[in-house]
Amino acid sequence: MSTIHRALDAFRELYGREPQGVWSAPGRANLIGEHTDYNDGFVLPFALPHRTSVAATRRTDGRILVSTVGDDGRPQQAEPFAVADLRPGSPSGWAGYPAGVAWVLRDIGVADISAGAELVIAGNVPAGAGLSSSAALECAIALALLGLAGHEIGAGYAERAQVAEWSHQAENRFVGVPSGVLDQTASMCCTEANVLFLDVRSGAAEQVPFDAAAEGLEVLIIDTRVNHALGDSEYGDRRRGCERAAELLGVPALRDVSTEDLPGALATLPSELGPLVRHAVTENARVLDAVDLLRASKLAEVGPLLTLSHQSLRDDYRVSCVELDVAVDAALAAGALGARMMGGGFGGSAIALVSEELRPEVERQVTAAFVGRSFTQPRLFTAIPSAGAGRDQ
Ligand code: GLA
Repeated sequence: MSTIHRALDAFRELYGREPQGVWSAPGRANLIGEHTDYNDGFVLPFALPHRTSVAATRRTDGRILVSTVGDDGRPQQAEPFAVADLRPGSPSGWAGYPAGVAWVLRDIGVADISAGAELVIAGNVPAGAGLSSSAALECAIALALLGLAGHEIGAGYAERAQVAEWSHQAENRFVGVPSGVLDQTASMCCTEANVLFLDVRSGAAEQVPFDAAAEGLEVLIIDTRVNHALGDSEYGDRRRGCERAAELLGVPALRDVSTEDLPGALATLPSELGPLVRHAVTENARVLDAVDLLRASKLAEVGPLLTLSHQSLRDDYRVSCVELDVAVDAALAAGALGARMMGGGFGGSAIALVSEELRPEVERQVTAAFVGRSFTQPRLFTAIPSAGAGRDQ
């Protein structure tokens, strides 16, 4: 059953009437450009077909009632909270994500959400898989709360990027996760059949057509089933390391270090910071190269860039893990054109570029590589760039 129908059915069951509307937002993949967003650099994500839907109705008593519904159709309700009482960290747990969005919207005052709301959430973005289920949830809630307050979000890029930033603020300041803007921007701003080339510093964005099938290719996502949340503290460490390196180099962000500057920068930095800078600088260059190749319809040539990205994330940035390395190595050994870990790292998913003919063999070999170890079996699926967040009904 679609996430829309699951959310609708659960809403009817809980409240005995129709919701005022249903909004949804997707998870994301990132073709290339990892750990570059908080360095003011470049990213190249696309929206997944997996989404989180929110069926919602306005209340009058200032409280927010929020429930999630799983595959079994059974809703699980969080403790209701009052919009007026929200403060960072409370409520915590999964309800912190919707509450955080409400808190940001309340404080910004862009729309009057003080009446409260009934929100029923159903999603199929795998959680903990590095596919941005949190961003999908935040963005869907943001659209629902804004929509209920009469502030419907259209197709305009700037308005969507603004909603992404509010959702990002909810995650940073309310939930307390120091992530960059990649995930929420992808969920809000990606469009069907395109990857989003985003310059995080300037906010300049370009929808770059991405038609793998036209070149006989497929994008394979390999969810290692290792919950990436375990790497949360490491994420903050890497981010602080980058900020420290930028400070020592006297630049606003690592985005300002060019490929030509790199040898000089490496010569002056403490040995533990050099590899972080090398990753950020070379990864930004790889994004620009990948965009050039996509514009020239040479998708197959993006493959080796993905593999270089993985090596850099594994050896310099040190955010991979054994399951991600096994998945990438097995995909490459089976003939993938390129593969790399995706997202924050320490688990989650890898992405591989494969030819249509070889895809079954790549899937078989990746799955086989996980057998006989203490690994959970991976989950594999092919993904095409799908629509960003919006109103479903
Ligand atoms: C996570 C964060 C993003 C980004 C990636 C790494 O997904 O939420 O902001 O930093 O890791 O590229």
